[in-house]
Amino acid sequence: MTADDLDHMAALLGDPEVMRYYPAPKTRAQAQAWIDWSVRSYAEHGFGLWIVETHDGDFVGDCGLTWQSVGGERHVEVGYHVRAGLQGRGYATEAATACRDAARAAGAEHLIAIIHPRNVPSQRVARKIGLRLERSVPHDGGEILVYGTDLT
Ligand SMILES: CC(C)(COP(=O)(O)OP(=O)(O)OC[C@H]1O[C@@H](n2cnc3c(N)ncnc32)[C@H](O)[C@@H]1OP(=O)(O)O)[C@@H](O)C(=O)NCCC(=O)NCCS
Repeated sequence: MTADDLDHMAALLGDPEVMRYYPAPKTRAQAQAWIDWSVRSYAEHGFGLWIVETHDGDFVGDCGLTWQSVGGERHVEVGYHVRAGLQGRGYATEAATACRDAARAAGAEHLIAIIHPRNVPSQRVARKIGLRLERSVPHDGGEILVYGTDLT
């Protein structure tokens, strides 16, 4: 992910359908901050959120690894967003599988995915890459699900 990805990332993270389980779609400035956060993460941790594209170079979305704190624990999380028009084709599963393997190669002992209880597609992806429901944690007046698996 670089500054050159801003148009694509702003369209992705600004789409209310893609962001329906987030508090709100992101503005262009917030999409820029998202890219900056990823670039910082590459430098600090050797991983972050990466751009997903087809073999022809068409933009699909993002997927990658970030450090997240949830319920008093800090773990590496796999995250993914796919353009609305390209969902349901297996892209998130393929990308998340590669990210799970990258987390293991980077020495992470445990991998999680933090998911809204109604976000069934995201839970399907988590299960397909081997994560299982571990905990439900209070979040924003409701609950958030933590899927996870040991990588060792
Ligand atoms: C979650 C997301 C990344 C999945 O991307 P994708 O490329 O469509 O995922 P895949 O095609 O690899 O797999 C999607 C799975 O969800 C299932 N699915 C899709 N829509 C569904 C729905 N409305 N209800 C139930 N399952 C659904 C698919 O059937 C598939 O599971 P299966 O292979 O067992 O049939 C995509 O839906 C997305 O971008 N959502 C918005 C952003 C988001 O919520 N990200 C996750 C934050 S935790």
